[in-house]
Amino acid sequence: MSSIEIKDIWQIYDSRVVLEKISLNIEQGSFVSIVGPSGCGKTTLLRMLMSEEFCTRGSILLDGIPLPAEPTLERGVVFQRYSVFPHLTVLGNVLLPMELKASRWLGKLLGPKRYNAKEEARAMLEHVGLRHAADFYPAQLSGGMQQRLALAQALMAKPRVLLLDEPFSALDPGTRADIHVLTKRLWEETKMTIVMVTHDISEAFRLGTRVIVLERPTPDDPTKGARITHDIPVRPRAKDKKGAA
Ligand SMILES: Nc1ncnc2c1ncn2[C@@H]1O[C@H](COP(=O)(O)OP(=O)(O)OP(=O)(O)O)[C@@H](O)[C@H]1O
Ligand SMILES: [Mg+2]
Repeated sequence: MSSIEIKDIWQIYDSRVVLEKISLNIEQGSFVSIVGPSGCGKTTLLRMLMSEEFCTRGSILLDGIPLPAEPTLERGVVFQRYSVFPHLTVLGNVLLPMELKASRWLGKLLGPKRYNAKEEARAMLEHVGLRHAADFYPAQLSGGMQQRLALAQALMAKPRVLLLDEPFSALDPGTRADIHVLTKRLWEETKMTIVMVTHDISEAFRLGTRVIVLERPTPDDPTKGARITHDIPVRPRAKDKKGAA
């Protein structure tokens, strides 16, 4: 739904170069996986795409326009943990983006609008298999359920871009496989652009349409930041192609 242009960005903290000369065009509707060693700047790059961090040099355009200076609902995010609000129920968490969209000041929907929003939120919970848990609090959910809730919450704002920072790394392999299927389905249905950071190479290739590798050429040299060392297109697997069993 949205294209992203990352133009020659650098991130330098004090005198340590973290990211160097990163340029990347992300086509709308693609699913880009980013992999790389710990500390190479993957989260930093996602935080820039969220406007939670600013590059020292360079620029990032979303559909040809510089990113807004603050996080906005058009860019959703799911982290490894703690993306949802512990004091709100499952339904309350999914309703929140709609309430914020309706009224940033009041943060509440009233009357028929609230009723309709609740119906939409329940439909989303159904979609991610959490309708039965609408009245639970996040602490009462398993890790996999919490991440499904985090995805549902991010999707309620109908973001044009979804940013995922190791969203499934705390899950056991079975739960992870299930949530991969769900994520792929949600991506196909919404046609969102997704950028996902992961340490799991097989996850990167299974979900991504493209895998970007970030690496520091000389890890101990603070004057050299991480660069894109590989940019690998991923061909859909036969069984993932439309119409295949
Ligand atoms: N606000 C900041 N101020 C100073 N240094 C920072 C800041 N944010 C990140 N860094 C540094 O930038 C480097 C990259 O951090 P980042 O969290 O982006 O790595 P990462 O690739 O996501 O690592 P991991 O795989 O472990 O999550 C680290 O050396 C980190 O200490
Ligand atoms: Mg990180």
